[in-house]
Amino acid sequence: MSTRPLPETVTVTIDGTPSQAWAGQSVTAALVTAGIWPLRRNAVNGQLRGPFCGMGVCMECEVTINGRPDSRSCTAHVTDGMDIRTAAHG
Ligand code: FES
Repeated sequence: MSTRPLPETVTVTIDGTPSQAWAGQSVTAALVTAGIWPLRRNAVNGQLRGPFCGMGVCMECEVTINGRPDSRSCTAHVTDGMDIRTAAHG
């Protein structure tokens, strides 16, 4: 029986707070694991929104990653030192 190595643990910043995540996991997974939900507000009516499709189609998971707004968190992968900003909490 073979065992798979554990993923590397890295530090990201979520809305200014350091948090642990696994390198390569989706940013959505890192946010949900850290208890962050929802992730953004609707630009028209301010309604809180969160990931829906998990595959880059619905745009409901958009956050700011390393200063780049409107980044889909479900298709972005965590890297060490990543700065993640949500519109719902930040
Ligand atoms: S959850 Fe739908 S685009 Fe990310």
